[in-house]
Amino acid sequence: LKFVCYSNDGVDEHMVWLIGLKNIFGRQLPNMPKEYIVRLVMDRSHKSVMVIRRNHVVGGITYRPYKSQKFGEIAFCAITADEQVKGYGTRLMNHLKQHARDVDGLTHFLTYADNNAVGYFIKQGFTKEIHLEKDRWQGYIKDYDGGILMECKIDPKLPYTD
Ligand code: ACO
Repeated sequence: LKFVCYSNDGVDEHMVWLIGLKNIFGRQLPNMPKEYIVRLVMDRSHKSVMVIRRNHVVGGITYRPYKSQKFGEIAFCAITADEQVKGYGTRLMNHLKQHARDVDGLTHFLTYADNNAVGYFIKQGFTKEIHLEKDRWQGYIKDYDGGILMECKIDPKLPYTD
């Protein structure tokens, strides 16, 4: 099992994984238009942290780092149906936090969580209270009424992965 983070960089292996991830999002997030998913997953300002098992993608998180504002917006998060509730979602989020802090220099995440995923995000340290000052994120992330805005502060020191 490994965790990787790539953007649309044209490398064959990465592209195969990104397409696999796009297909998982398409199945697991039925309310999201497929063309919107493919557009963001393939957009070069977005990155995807992916869980790879036996060279196949089993899930991932696509996010956009806003480095000047030091926060990231999580666009999509899913684990393929037959691999859910095995702890992959938690390990994935920990790798995302570590990468976002150490590589992108981010301090927070924001996401519009689907109602049924709020419990998962709370377990990952997200809150419905937004502490980040509005001028750091307003105008950067798009308003979207299909979900609940949630925030997570990334610990500046904690080792999130082993
Ligand atoms: N509601 C409440 N709790 C949940 C949910 C949920 N939907 N999903 C998982 N949990 C809990 C688990 O029971 C577990 O609790 P525990 O630590 O007490 O045992 C904990 O959260 C972590 O579970 P994992 O096994 O690490 O989570 P998993 O690998 O199943 O991944 C995920 C969670 C990504 C939500 C997965 O279930 C999934 O793909 N769901 C369908 C797609 C989805 O809803 N994605 C999020 C939409 S919002 C967005 O994309 C911005």
